[in-house]
Amino acid sequence: MNEPVMAQRSPYFVDVVAGESYWWCACGKSKSQPFCDGSHKGTAFTPVEYKAEKDGRIAFCGCKRSAEKPLCDGTHTKL
Ligand code: FES
Ligand code: FES
Repeated sequence: MNEPVMAQRSPYFVDVVAGESYWWCACGKSKSQPFCDGSHKGTAFTPVEYKAEKDGRIAFCGCKRSAEKPLCDGTHTKL
């Protein structure tokens, strides 16, 4: 499996807390999108850490094809 599964063709908006780490699902198979639930086991993918520097709402990539993983960069609009 070289291509990630597209979890959804839009970002997931999540309220993050300063100082917390979040593990974004890169493979697209997690049932707890946009975060890793271990389902990448056996694939070529591993989760990507996002460390929140401040409280706020973050747009995590749902299509899994952003060039700025784990954040949405608008790539989903061209898919
Ligand atoms: Fe997708 Fe872990 S479940 S990276
Ligand atoms: Fe993937 Fe926007 S959801 S780039």
